[in-house]
Amino acid sequence: MTLLRDEDLTAAFDHAARGYDALVAANPGYHAHLRRSVRRLGLPGPGAGLRLLDLGCGTGASTAALRAVLPAAHITAVDASAGMLRRAAAKPWAGGVTFVRAPVERLAEAGVTGPFDAVFAAYLLRNVSDPDAVLTAVRDLLVPGGRLGVHEYTLSGRRVDRAAWSLVCRGLVQPAACVLGDGGLYRHLWRSVVEFDTADRFAARLRAAGFEHVRALPLPGWQTGITHTFVARRAESAR
Ligand SMILES: C[S@@+](CC[C@H](N)C(=O)[O-])C[C@H]1O[C@@H](n2cnc3c(N)ncnc32)[C@H](O)[C@@H]1O
Repeated sequence: MTLLRDEDLTAAFDHAARGYDALVAANPGYHAHLRRSVRRLGLPGPGAGLRLLDLGCGTGASTAALRAVLPAAHITAVDASAGMLRRAAAKPWAGGVTFVRAPVERLAEAGVTGPFDAVFAAYLLRNVSDPDAVLTAVRDLLVPGGRLGVHEYTLSGRRVDRAAWSLVCRGLVQPAACVLGDGGLYRHLWRSVVEFDTADRFAARLRAAGFEHVRALPLPGWQTGITHTFVARRAESAR
């Protein structure tokens, strides 16, 4: 199979929206790990006066993590999929969040111009056609010194971690997704991770896009060596 991109990927997420929350609920630590990644941004709680951007918010799991850790911040949450976004906006905590339907490649056209104190992107960047272009655009939306948090499946480069990823996908995720009629999207999930950057490579990509103080931090449990939080700051001199 080829990777899903752009409109094809959005259509697949529209279809998967119905079962998305149930699938992630079966993933131990999914929500706690997102909150851990938000805390790793090191922003002062409760976030009063902070402007945050959640890119690829989906059904709102990442937005909920931002809300839980920084309840006083203003959050703008963006996604290309109307189906995913509708479920996010219906969540009980969603009042006060600004939801925007747009591809992350066309934020300015959708009126998302910043500046933001921090941008968070969970499980997004491996899905975009040109991650470098998106990262450069994100950098320019941040205030100088503004924080970037990326929570992403990025393999360590060790064969054992790649094997564990394949086992989880083929043994657990894909059978469950097939029942929901979303087999194509979750085959894309497996392949998009295997073909995406290792953690070291992604950290280098962030530096090349004008971020500094870049750190790649592992997550615990079965995700060790498979999922990382990346934290970085927009370089004062970047542009
Ligand atoms: C795996 S979900 C992650 C959702 C959420 N951040 C979470 O932590 O559960 C990825 C989301 O990114 C969105 N997405 C993928 N590519 C996108 C793009 N180019 N522009 C905007 N949203 C995109 C999809 O529609 C989907 O809702």
